[in-house]
Amino acid sequence: MMPGTDMIESNTENASPRAGTLPATDARCASDVDSDTLVKVEGLSVDLPRRREATRLVDGVSFTIKRNEKVALVGESGSGKSVTARALMRLNPKLRLAGRVLVDGIEVLGLPERKLGSVRGKRIGMAFQDAFTSLDPIMPVGEQLIEALVVQGVSRGEARVRAVRLLAELGVSHAEGRMKAYVHEFSGGMRQRVVLAMALICEPRLLIADEPTTALDVRIAQQVLDVLDDVAARRELAVLLITHDMGVVASFAERVLVMYSGRIVEDAQVDALFERPIHPYTEGLLAAVPRVDRTVERLAAVQGSPVAPGERPAGCAFHPRCAAATDVCRGVVPPLRTFGARRIACHHAEERGASDAV
Ligand SMILES: Nc1ncnc2c1ncn2[C@@H]1O[C@H](COP(=O)(O)OP(=O)(O)O)[C@@H](O)[C@H]1O
Ligand SMILES: [Mg+2]
Repeated sequence: MMPGTDMIESNTENASPRAGTLPATDARCASDVDSDTLVKVEGLSVDLPRRREATRLVDGVSFTIKRNEKVALVGESGSGKSVTARALMRLNPKLRLAGRVLVDGIEVLGLPERKLGSVRGKRIGMAFQDAFTSLDPIMPVGEQLIEALVVQGVSRGEARVRAVRLLAELGVSHAEGRMKAYVHEFSGGMRQRVVLAMALICEPRLLIADEPTTALDVRIAQQVLDVLDDVAARRELAVLLITHDMGVVASFAERVLVMYSGRIVEDAQVDALFERPIHPYTEGLLAAVPRVDRTVERLAAVQGSPVAPGERPAGCAFHPRCAAATDVCRGVVPPLRTFGARRIACHHAEERGASDAV
């Protein structure tokens, strides 16, 4: 079995044919995005259909990613980061997607199944949270990389050259010989590089890296982030890095999307966000990260625990955990409002300094 294709196919047999609000077409609609914009997500919702009523896992998320931009998607476990990322490629089995996802001018949610190959791998490469989801444990990694290119029509010889070159570029030593190794034969850091190679082999414009360093110790994690940084610069890639670790955000990203309970609550340039978090949730996430040296540290837990998607309270989903919450927070969902280069979903954004923040 070849997970890069098989798994993706089987994962999508239930992808909703009624996903998206536009007619199914692969017509490029680049006219409404400027040429700098690689990904434009508008009002993306993801529902888990249930017998009685659907549970909303992701609730009206909107964001853009520019070409070459390094964006972090951050939030506690269960906030909807992976579901959102997978929706960009329609990899959500059994989930119902609505809204708009434009990738390099292609309307992904309206695309017929058979045309999804123009997005998966080729425009967006995804390094999954778990290495064994990205890679087949019983096939040598080199074979998997070659296979991914061969199905695109590349000759075996050419595919082998490109696979070895990519592994070497990602810092896998003795790349030629390591082509024959199996995924379990790589150490944690090297395994993550192989996972990145699998995501990058078809030369996508956007790399989604889902918690690429979570299982690694601090030093190895930093090496993987450095490699990612290098390859992104060299290949002019945009990167969406998913993490729950603000230390990782600080050392990698240019811009940050903060997610809480299926919604984006803050979107800001990384320096501005670290300088002055506005949303109380962002402030909580940042509380444990040292400002001076920005070394990677565990997040201080935000007081209380995250809400499950089925138990999202009325109003601002964060209000039960928020010291600044007032009546309006308990009754009305705060819209994501724009303040200069930043977006914030908090009723109290102004008094928390949004107006004079960058
Ligand atoms: N395929 C699925 N079916 C049902 N529930 C799901 C599925 N995928 C994710 N969820 C639920 O959606 C919520 C968000 O999950 P996820 O995006 O994986 O969170 P994160 O990546 O931020 O940790 C969680 O409550 C999770 O249990
Ligand atoms: Mg996740």
